[in-house]
This record gives sequence, structure tokens and C-alpha cells, in this order.
Amino acid sequence: MNVKQAVLAGMLAAGLGLAGCDVITSIQKGGAVERLFGTTSDGQAVKLFTLKNKSGAELQVINFGAIVLSLKVPDRNGQLADVTLGCDQLSDYESKTPYFGAVVGRYGNRIAKGQFMLEGQTYTLATNNGPNALHGGLKGFDKVVWQAQAVQASDGPAVEFSYLSKDGEEGYPGSLAVKMVYTLTDKNEFKIQYTATTDKPTVVNITHHSYFNLAGAGEGDILGHEMMINADRFTPVDATLIPTGELKPVQGTPMDFTKPMAIGARVNQDNEQLKFGGGYDHNWVINQQQAGELTAAVRVVEPKSGRVLEVLTTEPGVQFYCGNFLDGTLTGKGGKVYKHRYGFCLEPQHFPDTPNHTNFPSCVLQPGQTYTQTTIYRFSTVK
Ligand code: BGC
Repeated sequence: MNVKQAVLAGMLAAGLGLAGCDVITSIQKGGAVERLFGTTSDGQAVKLFTLKNKSGAELQVINFGAIVLSLKVPDRNGQLADVTLGCDQLSDYESKTPYFGAVVGRYGNRIAKGQFMLEGQTYTLATNNGPNALHGGLKGFDKVVWQAQAVQASDGPAVEFSYLSKDGEEGYPGSLAVKMVYTLTDKNEFKIQYTATTDKPTVVNITHHSYFNLAGAGEGDILGHEMMINADRFTPVDATLIPTGELKPVQGTPMDFTKPMAIGARVNQDNEQLKFGGGYDHNWVINQQQAGELTAAVRVVEPKSGRVLEVLTTEPGVQFYCGNFLDGTLTGKGGKVYKHRYGFCLEPQHFPDTPNHTNFPSCVLQPGQTYTQTTIYRFSTVK
């Protein structure tokens, strides 16, 4: 529905005392409150959902790009802070932000030269990142309005999203029907469950792109955060951040996060991989017992606040990007300026450029199969 219809429906719903219709003013459903957030430049109404769990944490999401607007979690003294970077205006999300808080797809990360072959046919994508395709194209999953509704899951308030990516959209074959459930569990987890089905063979690599700062968004850089990645190998890249195809041991390199290490401890070392990324912007190969098994992949501790973020995922890889391209030109929520490395992303996914690497776990989805992914961002504290 467009805005006019939305407002009318809202007035009607309010007038008739209806709850649960596609709304507008403000509706309470389980632990979620829904209201109108804004209107896209092409006139589509965008809804904002505010979820509160039993432990006092709060998650705000919109159905444009299924974007996380804010995520408030306690520090070791119970003080809440918003730990995700973002903006106040919908128009900023439409044109300015580097995927703050968004879902990324159909194929997250890079595809070399915007080309891949599938079942004997070559597909060409827009090259929007130097010579390569990045994050699903010019209008990826982060730039579309998703169908969305609040629901009450058994473990906390939730929002269900769905989107039909049409055959040929952004150059990808097959109509892909995507569903996601975002739950703010009562254990202070932000859980994302994805499924997708297709009517033609296609490639799928969906991920989540929140930028975290556990000291609070805009409260300095993230270099003092201590990180551990459950990965003995990573996928080294060329100068355009396309994997060479090798799965290289992290041991003896600045990529070794098998023991907790400050993000900033080695980020500026004289190392070819770090130079290519302008810092960390690489994919780690998660140590999984079994493909598709939910695995503890990353643990991050912010020593001052005591906040801890753990990432669990069923995906084989995780892209760790430490905000190298943030440069102080973007003003975020509440007027705070996001400078170099003020946030980091942990993007569970298949490896970059998988469609061009037969030795990587496949990202091909066939008709009749269902793509599934579960990723959990779990928050807690240490003394
Ligand atoms: C990529 C970075 C990119 C960032 C924002 C990350 O997933 O790996 O290279 O700059 O997204 O676009």
C-alpha cells in the first residue's frame, strides 16, 4: 500500500477500533510495536517495528532492506546502549549508508568481474565495486521494501519478512522467494532464520550487515575490542578482494584470531593482505564439525563496558570487516559522526566469489531445494 492508503487504513483502523491490520499509527503485537517510519523516494510506506524482550533489550527494524535501526543491550552494570551504527532518516538508507544494518543479497560479497557460469550459461551482473560485483547489485536486498509482520515466537518477539526477487533481477537467474525471521530472544540474542526457494537454478549468498560498536554507536573506534574467531584458515584475496582460491592457515599471520586479540593490535602491520583490504576485510573459514551445523564462530569483548558479542551460524564462512571505509563523512544517529573504524561487521556467509571457485562450498540452489541459514548475534557481559 502507498502512504495515502496507509494513512487512510490507519484512520479506518483507529476509527473502527481494529487491531492487527496493516498499520500505520501504532499497533502492539506481542512484544512488538509497529508504526509508520517513512516513505521511500518512490512513495512506498516503510514500517518500523520496535521489539522488547523480557530482559529489557530492544531491537528496532524497518522493512526497507530489513534494516536493523538500533539494538540496545546492557553493559556489565545493566546500562543500555545502542550497539549498531545507523542513521535517523530513511533517505540516508536509500542513498548514503554502506549497508548499515541491512540484509545483503541475492549474492552478498564479491563476484569477480560481475560474471559467473551456471549450467553452461554465463550471467553478467553490474560491476559496482571496482571491476567486481558487490552485495547483490545496484538495487540489492538492502534497497527493497520487504513484506513484514510482527509475530510472537516462542523465544521472544519477532518480525517475519518476505521478498520475491524476480527472475533476472540484478542479472540473477530464477525467481527467488526469500523469508527471514528476526527474533529478539529473551536471552538477549538477535536471531535471524532465513529460507529461500527458486524456480530455476541460481546462486544464493545472503548475509547480515550490521556495524557493531559494543561501547555504543559513535563512541570511538573499535580497535580495543578483543576478538576471537573460531577459524584456522582464511581465504586470501587479490588486490580487488577476490579470493585466490586458497584456504590459507592463519597461523603466524595477523589473521590469527584463534586466541583473543585486540582488533587494533595488528591491523596496521606491513602485510599484503591487510594492505589489499585497507585493514581487515576478509573471509574466515569457520571450524565446523559438520557442514550446516550451528557453530560458535566469533566472540568479541569490549573491555570497558564488559559487553560481549558471540556470533553463531550455520554458514561456512564469516566476513570480518573493520570499517576501513568509514571516513567521518557520514553523520549517524543523533548527529554522531562515524570515523575510521568506528564499527565492525561480522557477516556469516558462503565464501566470496564462490560461483567462480569449484573448491568452495557450493552456493547453488536448485528448484525443489530450500536454502536455509540460521545466524545468532548473542549479547552478554563479563565482569
Ligand atoms: C565489504 C567491504 C565493503 C563493505 C561496505 C563489506 O562486506 O567486505 O569491502 O566496503 O561491506 O560496502
